[in-house]
Amino acid sequence: MHAIGIDIGGTKIAGALVDEDGVIVRSERQPTNAGDPREIEDTVVGMIDVLRGGDDVIGVGVAAAGFIDAAQSTVYYAPNINWRNEPFREKLEARIDLPIIVENDANAAGWAEFRFGAGRPYTDMITLTIGTGVGGAIVANGALFRGGFGAGAELGHLRLVPNGLACGCGAHGCIEQYGSGRALLRIANEIADAGMLGRGLAIARERTGKLTGTEIGRLIQDGDAGALAALRQLGASLGQACASLGAVLDPQVFVFGGGVSIAGDLLLAPIRAAYLEHLPARGYHPEAAFAIAQLVNDAGVVGAADLARIAATRLS
Ligand code: BGC
Ligand code: NA
Ligand code: ZN
Repeated sequence: MHAIGIDIGGTKIAGALVDEDGVIVRSERQPTNAGDPREIEDTVVGMIDVLRGGDDVIGVGVAAAGFIDAAQSTVYYAPNINWRNEPFREKLEARIDLPIIVENDANAAGWAEFRFGAGRPYTDMITLTIGTGVGGAIVANGALFRGGFGAGAELGHLRLVPNGLACGCGAHGCIEQYGSGRALLRIANEIADAGMLGRGLAIARERTGKLTGTEIGRLIQDGDAGALAALRQLGASLGQACASLGAVLDPQVFVFGGGVSIAGDLLLAPIRAAYLEHLPARGYHPEAAFAIAQLVNDAGVVGAADLARIAATRLS
């Protein structure tokens, strides 16, 4: 039987009907109105209706970009969406006659990579999703790690810089402020402001008035010096975080997903270099592998659907 996966990020809502092998049967996409939980709820309900069509569906997994409780129900807090103790599952269940679970978006994406993508050969992996925010997922000994209150693996909020930039979570210096897609925009703007490393970023910014992720992605592919420097700076921060994470969790592989991961090896190279530079017991400890997510933008919906299937099977 098919399951539905919905992935609510800071900028878009994706949905898909997914089969037992993680293959997408049909999909939908809408922008996120991050300030309006009610509108998000309506969009999700509409999407589920369209996606289920006339098919039998075993359950719905909703991946959401926030801290989620252990019952897979309530979003405690979301740094980039206006959810505060949002009883999301209850609200959806009142409008949809299917079993529903709410899961952290990065957990869903990491789970999809573990089951169907770059994590298949491993038992212990860390996934970092590099999008609007930085999401984290930990698979330890083949199981998704959730922590004592459900909200573990919020790896984007590891502190990287003491007294650093303010983060949407309320703390300062989180890796999210130095390693996310938004951070890449900030760094690229700083490089353009400084007037160094060529004029590529500055020209792109003058054309439309502001830099976008798409523009920076294009400049990276063209080998623009400024855009590549911004990506290297992002990677250096992420790599330092990986060295610390490695000391705690000892994963066999780090997998990178989210929009920025389409930069591929250009992103992995500086991450890996910083990881090696900061790795405790370097030279006396096996080095983890570094990989780009294989399901890329589909990971969230595929993982959410699979986790919904697991939850529904457990109940029946
Ligand atoms: C949130 C996480 C989420 C990540 C990626 C972070 O700001 O705290 O819950 O997984 O963004 O969307
Ligand atoms: Na997570
Ligand atoms: Zn934070």
